[in-house]
Amino acid sequence: SAPLRVLGIESSCDETGIALVECAPAGEPQGVPRLLAHALHSQIEMHQAYGGVVPELASRDHIRRVVPLLRETLAASGLGLEAIDVVAYTRGPGLAGALLVGAGMGCALGLALDRPVLGVHHLEGHLLSPFLSADPPEFPFVALLVSGGHTQLMRVDGVGRYELLGETIDDAAGEAFDKTAKMLGLGYPGGPALSRLAEQGDPAAHALPRPLMKTDNLDFSFAGLKTAVWTRMQRLEAEHGQPIAADGMARPRADLAASTQAAIVDVLLNKSLSALRRTGLKRLVVAGGVGANRRLREQLDEACRRRGVRVHYPELHLCTDNGAMIALAGAMRLQSGQAVAERHYAFDVRPR
Ligand code: KG4
Ligand code: ZN
Repeated sequence: SAPLRVLGIESSCDETGIALVECAPAGEPQGVPRLLAHALHSQIEMHQAYGGVVPELASRDHIRRVVPLLRETLAASGLGLEAIDVVAYTRGPGLAGALLVGAGMGCALGLALDRPVLGVHHLEGHLLSPFLSADPPEFPFVALLVSGGHTQLMRVDGVGRYELLGETIDDAAGEAFDKTAKMLGLGYPGGPALSRLAEQGDPAAHALPRPLMKTDNLDFSFAGLKTAVWTRMQRLEAEHGQPIAADGMARPRADLAASTQAAIVDVLLNKSLSALRRTGLKRLVVAGGVGANRRLREQLDEACRRRGVRVHYPELHLCTDNGAMIALAGAMRLQSGQAVAERHYAFDVRPR
């Protein structure tokens, strides 16, 4: 019978994303859903002047972008509105006002087209995003979810069958990147900037703490690292008599960036290996914005190769927020019978 086409809408934070995926209908041989088209607008430039995401500005910009991005997606797919069978939107977590834009758009489309809608968990989108890569994983696997708001290790046995193995007790890994980058004067979002700067520094220059790395649970903590970086920075500034962001401080700044990145990656690597050991699984999926980090990928690849573990990543451009992962998660939920799209059109959002 006809394939099922799911439109995905992402608006939880500072990216507006729309995408269309196609999958086999529920109950038929499944295979991995196929991405037909997607369009994305990042608000990063707009928020940069403020050093972080301004929620009210984010909502307003989502409002400006959703319709043009929907048109762009449809044009790229060569399909019309009537080709949409189900609308999936990000229900949360995220900024309430921003989420409401996507939910409102999704429900309006559903109501106008008489199609059911489905709220999707943002993290499930990240978690399943490697299924859109050229090398999709197979269940079961361990997932390392590392984004700006979350750091979790999970055992994943199938769609909707997730067991939390450990998570951060304070800051997320992306937050650790962003906050330390801000201290070093690298602006927002700090992750990519810090990792670029780190390429020029010595990761062994500073022995920074690896919080909780040697404990036998799978929880993370990054707040202490932030404080340690702050202390080192103060010491460097006093030593050189210049602020860390000064031109003359390029070398110490790069060394501190490299050491910070090394500490974060070391913790993520070690906890991931513990999770693999503990579950006995031979497959690892890495997802979320920090999954784009080059050092993390290199070290995971190397460690997993030696242990006979397969590692899967989303395509680089699907690591950070996007509509494709939301359409995909909606499609996989429907296919597997783990969710039913409904005609409630209730703008149901769950910011937390
Ligand atoms: O998944 P994501 O786009 O949004 C959330 O759901 O949070 O992740 C964004 C996070 C930010 O903290 C950003 O600094 C970080 O991912 N990030 C990186 C890199 N690219 C993005 N962190 C380290 N290295 C990168 N290359
Ligand atoms: Zn995200």
